[in-house]
Amino acid sequence: MAPMALALILGWCLVAASRAQHLPPPSLSLHPSQRVAVGDTVTLRCHLPRPAAWVELYKEGERTFKMCKDTDKEQNTVEFHLDDIRKEDAVKYQCQYRVLEPPGTSEKSDPVALLVTDHSYPPRTISLSPEEHVEMGTNVTIRCWNKPYQGSTFLHKDGHSAPIQHQEPDGGGTATFTLFRVSPADSGTYRCSYRLGGCCFLFSPLGDSVTLEVIPTSAPRGAERMSRRNLVVAVVSGCAAALVFGLGLYFILDARSFWIRRDESPCGEGA
Ligand SMILES: *[C@@H]1O[C@H](CO)[C@@H](O)[C@H](O)[C@H]1NC(C)=O
Repeated sequence: MAPMALALILGWCLVAASRAQHLPPPSLSLHPSQRVAVGDTVTLRCHLPRPAAWVELYKEGERTFKMCKDTDKEQNTVEFHLDDIRKEDAVKYQCQYRVLEPPGTSEKSDPVALLVTDHSYPPRTISLSPEEHVEMGTNVTIRCWNKPYQGSTFLHKDGHSAPIQHQEPDGGGTATFTLFRVSPADSGTYRCSYRLGGCCFLFSPLGDSVTLEVIPTSAPRGAERMSRRNLVVAVVSGCAAALVFGLGLYFILDARSFWIRRDESPCGEGA
């Protein structure tokens, strides 16, 4: 009896699986996508690959909430507004949609993290060594510290949306970042932030900045000077060669005309 029941269940599962349609996942985006602070408003946009009956938003963590919205046939984006962002909102979000005919639920979108800045925390202090103007190829050290708050520390460079490095601070609350063998591309303004309380995606504000200016070393200038000298040598030797050739040609022609003149003279006499 048991094998037959098993076969029946298996058969039902196969039929159900073949009837279930594959619904590609939607994608979720945040607006604004960065520098969101406590108290701000954020819009989460769920982009649907096809018309859906309704859309749910999932918030990571113990408190998962669903928001349902009817989407008309033409709509391919559904917006959810989060007003007055709190610390607890700094988590990952996903969205999902359902269709009625035939009934089905899509896969969830890739998770998107809402990074929130809490301005009630003091920023990290930052220092640069060696200071400001450094030669190419130097190893530059950037230190960020703030004793009471010892979370992961992030190094930001102006013009980059994401932190360029991150580190756990040592016991003294200092995080040390090294930029190895800097090039002019490393020039720029740097700041630090840190993650708060081990929780979620909550960050301190960006602190004071340090500015690094990498100056090209004299090596390339030396090479340039060298190549210019080579060019001068090439031109001079080329001219010298042309002069020698020209003089040689002149003497050969001169000698030839002398011989021709000498050959001609008997004829002249004979005429
Ligand atoms: C920079 O750091 C690298 C790796 O630690 C090291 O090999 C190199 O000698 C350092 N260069 C200078 C100029 O200190």
